[in-house]
Amino acid sequence: MSYAADSGVCLDRILASTDLSGLSKKDATTFTRRLKEHFPRLFDKYTYVYGHQYDCYFHLQKLVEILRDGLKSRKPALKKLDNERLKNPLWYRDEQQVGMACYVDLMGPTLNDLHDKIPYFKSLGVTYVHLMPLYDAPKGDSDGGYAVSDYRKVNPTLGTVKDLEKLASALQKEGINLVLDFVFNHTSDEHAWAKAALAGEKQFQGYYYLFDDRTIPDQYEHTLREIFPQVRRGSFTFNEQIEKWVWTTFNSFQWDLNYSNPEVFNAITSEMLFLANIGSAALRLDALAFIWKELGTNCENQEKAHVLIQAFNCCLQIVAPAVVFKSEAIVHPDEVLKYIEKDECQLSYNPLLMALLWNSLATRKTRLLTRSMKKSFSISENCTWVNYVRCHDDIGWTFDDAVANELGINAFDHRHFLNQFYTGRFEGSFANGVPFAENPSNGDCRVCGSLASLCGLEGALKSNDSKGIDDAVKRMMLLYGITFSIGGIPLLYSSDEVGKLNDYSYRLDDTKKHDDRWVNRIAVTRADTELALGNTSPANPTETASLHVFNGLRKMIAIRKQNAIFGQSSTQILDADNHHCFAFLRENTQGHKLLVICNFSEHPQTIQRSLLATLKGASSRDLLTDETVEMNASPLLLEPFQQMWLLAD
Ligand code: GLC
Ligand code: GLC
Repeated sequence: MSYAADSGVCLDRILASTDLSGLSKKDATTFTRRLKEHFPRLFDKYTYVYGHQYDCYFHLQKLVEILRDGLKSRKPALKKLDNERLKNPLWYRDEQQVGMACYVDLMGPTLNDLHDKIPYFKSLGVTYVHLMPLYDAPKGDSDGGYAVSDYRKVNPTLGTVKDLEKLASALQKEGINLVLDFVFNHTSDEHAWAKAALAGEKQFQGYYYLFDDRTIPDQYEHTLREIFPQVRRGSFTFNEQIEKWVWTTFNSFQWDLNYSNPEVFNAITSEMLFLANIGSAALRLDALAFIWKELGTNCENQEKAHVLIQAFNCCLQIVAPAVVFKSEAIVHPDEVLKYIEKDECQLSYNPLLMALLWNSLATRKTRLLTRSMKKSFSISENCTWVNYVRCHDDIGWTFDDAVANELGINAFDHRHFLNQFYTGRFEGSFANGVPFAENPSNGDCRVCGSLASLCGLEGALKSNDSKGIDDAVKRMMLLYGITFSIGGIPLLYSSDEVGKLNDYSYRLDDTKKHDDRWVNRIAVTRADTELALGNTSPANPTETASLHVFNGLRKMIAIRKQNAIFGQSSTQILDADNHHCFAFLRENTQGHKLLVICNFSEHPQTIQRSLLATLKGASSRDLLTDETVEMNASPLLLEPFQQMWLLAD
């Protein structure tokens, strides 16, 4: 091995010239110990990406200083948490974990107001709150906060960093983890780095992808996917001020960071550690699939994107090991899986399950769900899924075309059907969704809408259809029930828990009307929470339905928390002998077994009791109804949209 390529030698030399005198003795010891453990890996990753650059080692040395400063500013309470989490690293696989994602302004409206919402979170059983981006951002359209102007400043309309820290520790005291976004693929065009680039500073122009003319953008664009074709065609934006083309994967004011520049890696690491040190338990890696660009590819899920995320993970292990990464890769299922590793992202959204739950609800068929979950549900035991039904974004139909083909489903036509169905254009559809990002070149389209509206509540309330209302509530219970039981952290999207309908008011707002995702970014008001908590009584059918949803979810969450089988257990996807039904078996090392069977149709369905044999007991108990289910010969009957959580006796 050459001298320069030996990480041990490199670390010794870096440490010899790094001033640790600002650290307490204890911190200095911890820092050197953790470096000894994790630097070899960090070195490998860093030199893999940047080793060919003459100044790689200079930047690596600077990175170690950034890590040192990160540890120095970490509060004692968080250091204590680091040690606790290191002893219990799989906390996120616990049955106690239940998440909720919400916007501060739609729930607060300020950070300080959220203190009053803690009893609400607790009454539902929430143990992890993801606050959607709350950083300083451009006024007007800021992509819902995903265009960050300053990672170290809270958007003044929501509060201050001090308020955020105060909230983080108040939540922590109540056993609720704070999850924050790490929006690191891009900054807003108002970030100090972008402003310096706009002022002509070469150093900061190197933080982004800027091109003098269309030559190179044209070459890239041959193979790029358009993410928001409704706001701008292509992936580049011409900036008049500097007369350059800027790489903007998302909106034109979101400038992609240039990770081929090690200075960018270092600078963003420093921002990441700042967010970790606020007291977040997990960082949601926003749009992580896009961080590495490679000519001739779609510039998504590139190998070096993985290497960079692993390098960020090493940095966290050294400074803030209590913090885990959550992958937001809304891409092909095979690519989603590649981000999930203890050393990369310990948590990952499960977009495939999400999309296929909706698919089964529309088709009343479960074969695509079953086949796809058999192929893609299993992940490392050191990691966990974050299972969700709705979020602040659109629904993209990210299933695997090859799996669909095996079942004789034409993927293109089927996506078209799903879009038609959920936007209510398909005759007989129960859904009230809105099309999103229709691409005139390839006919691609995604769907927006709230849980309740997509499940049929909006239409049923409008037509005063009490059976329709009932069915809609059952559909919501069915989808969420699967996220509570299949294995992973269930993540509620705030406003779902009270069954809120689409909010169309964005169409009157100039800063929002071009982005239909606002239809499913809905305020949870004081009236909603008072109703949910039983402090007021329902005054109309909408409120009655809302209360049913809340109580139904709360009950299932409570059952989840009382049974260890919902935590660290394996999941085996089963073939139910009825194509309207979906079934899986959970098993843990204590010998507990749980069989979940779900009916996706509005008609009763039967299942042969042979499926119960997987439980290997004489009888079982449905945790949802507390009824005993015997192993006798007659087929098992499932009511419309019923699910059973059968625990072996
Ligand atoms: C993620 C966010 C989405 C945002 C995009 C760009 O996909 O969830 O809301 O538009 O990243 O930051
Ligand atoms: C995400 C996804 C895309 C999604 C968008 C946000 O990163 O890749 O499918 O729709 O950004 O809306």
